[in-house]
Amino acid sequence: MIRVLDLFSCIGFHSLGLERASPDFKIVALCEANERRRQELERLHPGVPIYDDVRTLPVIEADVVFGGPPCQRTSVAAAIHGKRDGHSLWPYMLCAGIDAGAEWIVVEQPPGNAAWEAQVYRHLSRAGYHVARFVFGAEDVGAPYPRRRVYLIACTSLPRLEIAWQAGPSAIERAKGAADARGDWDPDAIPTFDMDTWRADDVLERREAIEALGDSNPPAMAEVIGYMISDAMAGGAGFEPALPFGRTEYRSAAFNHSATPVDPQEMAGAADLCKTPPPQSNVKGD
Ligand SMILES: C[S@@+](CC[C@H](N)C(=O)[O-])C[C@H]1O[C@@H](n2cnc3c(N)ncnc32)[C@H](O)[C@@H]1O
Repeated sequence: MIRVLDLFSCIGFHSLGLERASPDFKIVALCEANERRRQELERLHPGVPIYDDVRTLPVIEADVVFGGPPCQRTSVAAAIHGKRDGHSLWPYMLCAGIDAGAEWIVVEQPPGNAAWEAQVYRHLSRAGYHVARFVFGAEDVGAPYPRRRVYLIACTSLPRLEIAWQAGPSAIERAKGAADARGDWDPDAIPTFDMDTWRADDVLERREAIEALGDSNPPAMAEVIGYMISDAMAGGAGFEPALPFGRTEYRSAAFNHSATPVDPQEMAGAADLCKTPPPQSNVKGD
């Protein structure tokens, strides 16, 4: 069993993708601020605890902490509108990961904010994680739109992260094949909104549903990450990588495995939020 704490859960597409990748993934808790989205999560995950604010989350033990912190203050769109002040709920996600004792922390974000990503790297490195940057788009899993996303995949074990990394290209192909087989991109198979929801009373509900879908990556994208992690978890500790990192087209210049020096001041704020202080050492050995 691979226990998952799903943060910024929206309507649960990350969880759905992981569950599709392997029955080993078990969602142990979700966290979502929006009430209507929480109602949808309750329907999908009966009996699973659902919290409403990452800032007040209790300690929840998990193997994987997965989430895309809201990007309204960090994205390119925010920059264009003069609102990119870098404010992010990321430090709370990091603390949830440290407190969970998570082996994996997966941070999802739109591309286009190298400074923010670098900060996330430094924080993860400081907390003892190795980090790989994996970029692909919804179009790679067959969607008729690009929606490129960055996944910062952090793991306390470098060999396991290497297995995950090398599984990336085949994971994309597997997720694309599964999405095609389900008919994810078949216009005749995609469910449409009930026309009754055009009634004035339900305009708000309809608008919120459209916004929630707009905020969500297709589940097949999280499914890719799920295949990568489950392959790595099955890979065993004695894995010796046959290839150096980054032999695939998915490599980005930003691959980093915990060598980045960290300014202790930078982590001070985040560390204060954690129930467990992050480790002092920069690198946790395997
Ligand atoms: C952009 S969405 C993430 C969706 C994700 N990328 C996906 O594909 O499913 C960010 C979510 O974080 C939620 N959120 C915002 N502030 C939060 C908070 N303090 N605690 C928990 N969730 C929060 C928002 O309501 C929103 O649903």
